[in-house]
Amino acid sequence: MVITVAFDVYGTLIDTQGIVTALGARMGDRAAEFSRAWREKQLEYTFRRGLMQNYQDFSVCVRDAFDYTNSSFGSPFGQEERTYLLAAYEKLPAFPDAKGGLAAVRQDGHRLFAFSNGRADTVAALLKNARLLSYFNDIVSVDDMKSFKPNPGVYAHFLRQAGAAGASAWLVSSNPFDVIGAVSAGMRAAWIKRSPDALFDSWGIEPSLVVPGLGELAEGIRRQTA
Ligand code: 2OP
Repeated sequence: MVITVAFDVYGTLIDTQGIVTALGARMGDRAAEFSRAWREKQLEYTFRRGLMQNYQDFSVCVRDAFDYTNSSFGSPFGQEERTYLLAAYEKLPAFPDAKGGLAAVRQDGHRLFAFSNGRADTVAALLKNARLLSYFNDIVSVDDMKSFKPNPGVYAHFLRQAGAAGASAWLVSSNPFDVIGAVSAGMRAAWIKRSPDALFDSWGIEPSLVVPGLGELAEGIRRQTA
């Protein structure tokens, strides 16, 4: 059976902690902490802007979250470094298992989409730089809806754009809020649980599949759809 697979981008295919190297020179051993705080603030801003219905695209959330995080760490970065770091965020690396995982799902004959909070042009450049773009049939962005995950409207938009029905469409994400959002909107969803310590919210809305990495995804989907 051919299914439609929507891959989340930031945190699932692309490693947002990859910015640690660029932060490292100035932040030293606090670089990972800065990176995590920046990422959490970005997501908070998407949730808040979604609820407020005051949409600004994801790059604005990334920029504003950087400014907040920089202030909260005592403003270690000046204007020039800010420009450099925001540009580096558009060239983040892929997780090591991304290429093989995508190739295996594609090999099984499925339709692959990148589905992201990021704008389509930003996501295309990011995936191209990470050598992942060629695995996808297309990119679907929440930007078309002027809202963010986990608004159910953005998952419905994905299904319309991909020409798929919920029962035969999967979301693949490392972000529990995204997995819960997709299942709640009628899709199936695989949670990529990269760390044994990663926690999933106990809302009673479970992933359809849990795998430790993208390398195990194709086999997991095969088992679930056999
Ligand atoms: C993405 O949509 C949730 O940031 C994540 O790519």
